[in-house]
Amino acid sequence: MKTIVKTIEVLDEQGLKDIEEMAKLLNQGETVVFPTETVYGLGANAFDPRAIKKIFKAKGRPMDNPLIVHVAKKEDIFPLVDEISESAKKLMAVFWPGPLTLVMKKSPRVSKEVTGGLNTVAIRVPKHPIARAFIAAGKCPVAAPSANISGRPSPTRFKHVMDDLMERVGGMILSQDSEVGLESTVVDTTVEPPMILRPGDITYEDLKKVLGEVRVSENISNIDENMIPDKILSPGMKYTHYSPQGELFVVKGRQEEITQKINGFLKKHKGNKMNIGILACDETMNHYKEGLILSLGSILDPKEMGRNIFAALRTFDELGVLKIYAEDISLNNETLALINRLYKAAGYQFL
Ligand code: TXA
Ligand code: MG
Repeated sequence: MKTIVKTIEVLDEQGLKDIEEMAKLLNQGETVVFPTETVYGLGANAFDPRAIKKIFKAKGRPMDNPLIVHVAKKEDIFPLVDEISESAKKLMAVFWPGPLTLVMKKSPRVSKEVTGGLNTVAIRVPKHPIARAFIAAGKCPVAAPSANISGRPSPTRFKHVMDDLMERVGGMILSQDSEVGLESTVVDTTVEPPMILRPGDITYEDLKKVLGEVRVSENISNIDENMIPDKILSPGMKYTHYSPQGELFVVKGRQEEITQKINGFLKKHKGNKMNIGILACDETMNHYKEGLILSLGSILDPKEMGRNIFAALRTFDELGVLKIYAEDISLNNETLALINRLYKAAGYQFL
């Protein structure tokens, strides 16, 4: 399949013309990649089951893993939902547009292809101006998972999208690096108190300030080696995720212990040390003398680390790294989403 590619940096006259062209593809039942503030998305008309099936095919995604539906403005959710709870209304007022996805009771118009057969639908109004202009131009709700091959790290740079989906999708809008770099926070608003199903840039504390009370799904709250989820609430949480090709381990302990352990692993390794990756931060990267060392950014800036994690995992792949040792990150309100992605990428392998 030939993929039509447009690079849009700003929404000037040419940018808007390109958006119109991509929206036309969407209306013809094609899949189109577009940038959002979280990660790049692979979109299709949510009311066109044939187009939706193309998303699953392009990504190699299991059909029972439901999609998030994106709309350009809050009013556009009415055809999609049967009920908007009081909690949902509060969250919509504060966090939309933005990196928050709300699960609500679906209307009959939303097909089982989108929801994986569930009677709920996940919805988000993205903040990214190009995403909003594209969805508005398409005049339809846009179902869009992250624009990566299933199981690979989510795409936060246009290069990741090209690497994974060139010739597999109808169109691509390429733009700048994703601002957040982690997928949206997913909150189930069909239950009281609402429950966080996937942590993201909008944190537990942010939600609590607005709702008073909020729960965290069991498979993210007790985040350690004992937490391999048994209760799967967000269907996407049950699949291998974000995995680099090299084998990834999270190294636990106090900082000095972590450094010592990793340096020990390096010493034992007989082959080319550049086959060993180390995922560190600005403050610790100088503690390592061998191996392929990448920093996620400053430990004092979890948002910066979140922006870089998926790109770092892909860089290790590109450089043919076979084993990656990642320093553990200490858990708090701001690091929960980052840790959740790191542990999932490692398949909960700890050293
Ligand atoms: O930031 C994001 O959310 C990005 C951008 C493109 O918007 N999208 C994204 O989509 O991350 P995806 O498909 O990679 O992740 C969707 C998540 C999955 O964990 C899925 O199981 C969950 O949302 N989800 C979708 N519909 C759901 C529903 N009805 N109930 C519970 N979880 C749902
Ligand atoms: Mg995804």
